[in-house]
Amino acid sequence: MIKAQRGTIDILPTDSGKWQFLEQTARKVCSLHNVKEIRTPIFEATELFARSSGESSDVVNKEMYTFLDKGGRSITLRPEGTAGVVRACIEHGLFADTLPLKLYYIAPVFRYEKPQAGRLREFRQFGVELFGSNSPKMIAEALEIGKDFLNGLGIKNVKAKINTLGCEKCKKNYIEVLKSYFAQNIDSMCEDCKRRLEQNPLRILDCKVENCKKITAEAPKVSSVLCDDCKAYFEELKTILNQKNIEFEVDEMIIRGLDYYTGVVFELVTEDIEGASAVVGGGGQYNNLVEELGGPSVPAVGFGFGIERLLMLLDKQEPNKIYENTIDALAVSMSSEYRDFEQKVVSLLRANEISADCDYMDRSFRANFKFANKLGVKYVCIIGEEEYNSKQITLKNMTTGEQKMVSLENLVSEIKC
Ligand code: HAM
Repeated sequence: MIKAQRGTIDILPTDSGKWQFLEQTARKVCSLHNVKEIRTPIFEATELFARSSGESSDVVNKEMYTFLDKGGRSITLRPEGTAGVVRACIEHGLFADTLPLKLYYIAPVFRYEKPQAGRLREFRQFGVELFGSNSPKMIAEALEIGKDFLNGLGIKNVKAKINTLGCEKCKKNYIEVLKSYFAQNIDSMCEDCKRRLEQNPLRILDCKVENCKKITAEAPKVSSVLCDDCKAYFEELKTILNQKNIEFEVDEMIIRGLDYYTGVVFELVTEDIEGASAVVGGGGQYNNLVEELGGPSVPAVGFGFGIERLLMLLDKQEPNKIYENTIDALAVSMSSEYRDFEQKVVSLLRANEISADCDYMDRSFRANFKFANKLGVKYVCIIGEEEYNSKQITLKNMTTGEQKMVSLENLVSEIKC
């Protein structure tokens, strides 16, 4: 038997109600915040990700699904959503329009990681990208979208941990400070960190190896090198977040695993699930990326939520929550002779936006009731000889057990009332 690939999941019909609930919540929140949907290709030129996420990131270094297509081009399955969105906006001239440009996507993402709970090779992200303003108000807007989304899902106990990498100058200074600190300790650090010291010492702060973690915990903090402007900017952000009642915590260990970030970065973290899956979302400013990819100079901020991780959390917090995934009515005729009337009933209901279905398996009357119960339908439309001859339906309310004859003309209003 051929099985699904390691690190991939099938979203089965029993779970799709939950997925639809999450996606509808995301779409609704975006629409309330004037954020429009964008859909970009699942694969792009490899160079796009190498240039944006950065050669020193684990995503580019170890985790990309890269292959040569039949034309000999190097292609990569999208390892994250931001780069494709920026590429599309540049290509279609969207930055020339009135700004800000507020976009969102719900899309699969591919990373060749070691699979475990909450860490997949194909997973899905809900991402938001806001272009055009360098104001801290825009960062607060991103965090507010995230907060409204989590509230809409009914998810609790997710903290926004924020940090700043500072301006270009501060970031450079910080990298120098880190370089000299880690250079003293590098002999006892892992091979990846040795490489990171050369390529990008900031990445070392993200290392998950126990011994490296001990050394990074003692590393100088970014706040020790921030210039006055960067400090004031970060303070202004904190004031706006407080005014908007968006809870946050400053965590100077938040660095983010992709190279395009500039300035403020953040992660959305829960204590209700353990390990890597505790980080359900992350994002930050990336003010240089549009220009680096050949577009105009446009500041930007965005975030991505890992949908599977959010659903894990939702299951944990609300194990008994029921996600509507049923139909309103099932038409059941007592004999195949009444099929024409049965089909008329089903078509009438569907035409009036009442979801309906019928029996295709030639089940007995009793078996159809069992089937109706299994589906969780609200009504069964029974069609027997008397009903057929009088063009009426016996409508059974499956919640109350109440049963009554209704005419075809009154069926829709009876179900809708
Ligand atoms: P990221 O932190 O790499 O950021 O991914 C966002 C979220 O995707 C993570 O917080 C996590 O919940 C989820 N995630 C990451 N890897 C996996 C995995 N292997 N399996 C399951 N879930 C995973 C980005 O991708 C940025 N593009 C976010 C962003 C948008 N920044 C600015 N705009």
